[in-house]
Amino acid sequence: MTVTLSPRALMSLLANGPKAMDVLETALGMGLLDALEPGPARLGDLATRFGVLPPRLYKFLDCLESLGFVERYACDDLAATAYRAVPGLRDAVVAVVGPDAQERDRDRYPWRVLHGRLAETLRGEVSMSDDDFAWPPRTDEQTAAFERSMAVGLGPVVEAVHRHARALWAGRRRLLDVGGGDGTLAARVLDDAPDLRADVYNLPAVAPLVADTRARSGHGDRLGFVPGDFFAAPLPTGYDALSFVRVLHDWPDDVARGLVERAYAALAPGGMLLICEEFRTPDRLAMQFFWSYFLIGVDSSVSRLREVEFYTALLAKVGFERVAVLPGAWELVVAHKPADAR
Ligand SMILES: C[S@@+](CC[C@H](N)C(=O)[O-])C[C@H]1O[C@@H](n2cnc3c(N)ncnc32)[C@H](O)[C@@H]1O
Repeated sequence: MTVTLSPRALMSLLANGPKAMDVLETALGMGLLDALEPGPARLGDLATRFGVLPPRLYKFLDCLESLGFVERYACDDLAATAYRAVPGLRDAVVAVVGPDAQERDRDRYPWRVLHGRLAETLRGEVSMSDDDFAWPPRTDEQTAAFERSMAVGLGPVVEAVHRHARALWAGRRRLLDVGGGDGTLAARVLDDAPDLRADVYNLPAVAPLVADTRARSGHGDRLGFVPGDFFAAPLPTGYDALSFVRVLHDWPDDVARGLVERAYAALAPGGMLLICEEFRTPDRLAMQFFWSYFLIGVDSSVSRLREVEFYTALLAKVGFERVAVLPGAWELVVAHKPADAR
């Protein structure tokens, strides 16, 4: 079921956003979502099972239906009216309001600096200060907070690399995850690829965070760290796989192109480059709303969600071959440096 609301209707939901979240948290907490997802569940049965009053539950379910989250099978007899939640609703609610929820983590950022002052922000009169949020992070505290946020949002990437583990890593020996955060993704890759070693390439301040990840992961020396600044020096060589995960979208087109060229130069002939980020779709742009808003006040981060075609075309232009898009929660773009390249 796909519901497209008019702008006016969507605005009513937005204006009542905290109440809608209350409905969702309550439905999750009561266990109602577990009953609704397999559905169809009859109103009378739900009311009995959860010990609630049927006419009140009807209105509560109207709230869920107005959000497009449940489908209703109407019946003259109220108790026989049945409901089914859209597939994946419970997991989505957990992802948004659960203890490790991405939105909860995002809310820690000082977005209130801009709130109510967007016009001034757009004119350049109000900005995030470096103490509020610096990009790239400046202090150890900012670095740790930022990389923690990144790790919280890695789910779709982890799912995709796990799904394609065999195709990605069979025959590969050494991976360099460029801008690889605190090493969370590299550690998950190693879970699936016993013959691989992975190094995280990142700014020196990130070293202790990768050391923590290494200790927790149990991968020991297979998970390494290479300190460096990808603008200050060529990328290190000796790798037959390189990845940019949520790195290129931080930079303007010409800078992203320069980074892809650096990856080409560093990779061994026949080596593979993997690019993954939330390639632009309406859904992903919506899920990126927080950063689109917050980064209005941060000029050093361009925040460019690009269509996947931008990268497939760029890779071909730079000289990569066998450029492919692998399906996943987020797609993986893979490409190879020709085996006879120098
Ligand atoms: C948006 S985060 C993505 C982190 C990780 N790949 C992930 O998806 O969770 C961008 C990463 O690029 C790193 N980074 C930024 N500028 C860098 C530079 N000049 N050299 C190396 N790494 C850099 C940041 O420290 C951060 O880890």
